[in-house]
Amino acid sequence: MVIFGGAGDLTKRKLVPALYNLAATGLLGESFAVVAIARSEMTHDEYRQRMAADLREFATGPIDPAIWKRLEKLFYYVHGDFADPGTYSRLKTQLAEVDTRHGTNGNYLFYLATAPEFFSEVVCQLSRTGLMREEGEAWRRVVIEKPFGRDLESARRLDHELMHVIRERQIFRIDHYLGKETVQNIMAFRFANGIFEPVWNRRYVDHVQITSTEEVGVEQRGGYYETAGALRDMVPNHLFQLMTLTAMEPPISFQADAVRDEQTKVLTAIQPMSADDVSRRAIRGQYGEGTIDQSHVPAYRAEPKVRTDSATETYVALKMLIDNWRWADVPFYLRTGKRLPRRVTEIAIQFKPAPFVLFRDTPVERLSPNRLVMHIQPDEGITLRFSAKVPGPHVHLGSVSMDFKYSDYFGATPSTGYERLLYDAMEGDATLFQRGDMVETAWSVVEPILQAWQATPPRDFPNYAAGSWGPAAADELLRRDGRQWREIKSEIKSEIKS
Ligand code: BG6
Repeated sequence: MVIFGGAGDLTKRKLVPALYNLAATGLLGESFAVVAIARSEMTHDEYRQRMAADLREFATGPIDPAIWKRLEKLFYYVHGDFADPGTYSRLKTQLAEVDTRHGTNGNYLFYLATAPEFFSEVVCQLSRTGLMREEGEAWRRVVIEKPFGRDLESARRLDHELMHVIRERQIFRIDHYLGKETVQNIMAFRFANGIFEPVWNRRYVDHVQITSTEEVGVEQRGGYYETAGALRDMVPNHLFQLMTLTAMEPPISFQADAVRDEQTKVLTAIQPMSADDVSRRAIRGQYGEGTIDQSHVPAYRAEPKVRTDSATETYVALKMLIDNWRWADVPFYLRTGKRLPRRVTEIAIQFKPAPFVLFRDTPVERLSPNRLVMHIQPDEGITLRFSAKVPGPHVHLGSVSMDFKYSDYFGATPSTGYERLLYDAMEGDATLFQRGDMVETAWSVVEPILQAWQATPPRDFPNYAAGSWGPAAADELLRRDGRQWREIKSEIKSEIKS
């Protein structure tokens, strides 16, 4: 595995702890080594020491010194600028040495943990040096981090540049949400259980809410975030993964292309938005100062590297319609934002209410519709809400819930979310990675929103206080349809009301 950006944040926070976890569970093959590349000059040993210190800080559990001792010997370091051809000649020499010493047989996984402007440059240079050429049994793959482009045109351009020198099957576009067990479980839940599929459609489902909220602000990433915003940062990637896995037809197999074909079909079926639709169905917000966990936090415009008159959105709510036979007229409401009261990612499927007729002459005033919630994080699990009779001589209904909590059944395995993705990339399984056409289709769905928002700068920013649940317009979006956002609770158990 070759890591470009070997001294960067992603490497120390996620990749090295994930490699450690893979080593600890015996999932790193015998023939394995890491070559890290970054600008500063360092010896192999200095790099190993640095990674050891970072691992102590970012490991997901206790470190077994024996495992780290074995793993650290597999780390090598090459210094150089990504634009300098000399870097790639040094890399080639290092890789040949690693092949001999570790029996890696010329199988290379290049991981681009770099800023996006280097993606194309690095792949072209690798190709020029012959390092992307697959000969005999040897494979050469490249893992590309998000963001893959910043709109449809730039994503197409990047694809075009990559396709010039490598094949689609060599490209593994990462979306770290697919590394989350609970996201993978959406498919298991839907397709390994017979009882849900018959009701998983417009006949029974009233609407779907997909929520991904965070307590944190932009932290030190103001520079990047100013060029992205909540829409680009979260929607065409993470939220669309959740939406497509929830809405897709059963694939004919778990082969990468079978699954990705179905996900892409959902994206293709999303009703395109006109500028008028954007003004009615796309809400943006930016946080002002406020209070979270009893601490005062600054406004977005006061964050480091953020313009004081920034028009960048830190919150998005959307109403999407999927125009196919399964979902026609069933709204999918999506929301995501920073500096909200709690970190929660979940998918709530709200079913249509039962007919009220039987309860007309009872004290019951209304029926609560059934709701199935897939809790992606934290408190990973699934809850199903239904009505039950409260004991007593009169008919009173209580809303109760059946809960499944991952940790109760399977324990909690510490993980960064990158373990499975790294393992699959090494195995050559692209099911949990994005295909080029998926990325482009996702961009084409959000493109009208990007354009409309760019053409009409927001006049009311900041329009929500840090620590609140977002702008009032987002509530209005659902209220107009006679609905409301699900109230987010911190614990699954609190779903149970009497
Ligand atoms: C990243 C975004 O892709 O996902 C961040 O760039 C966001 O802005 C993060 O905070 C959320 O990931 P998770 O795994 O914490 O939900």
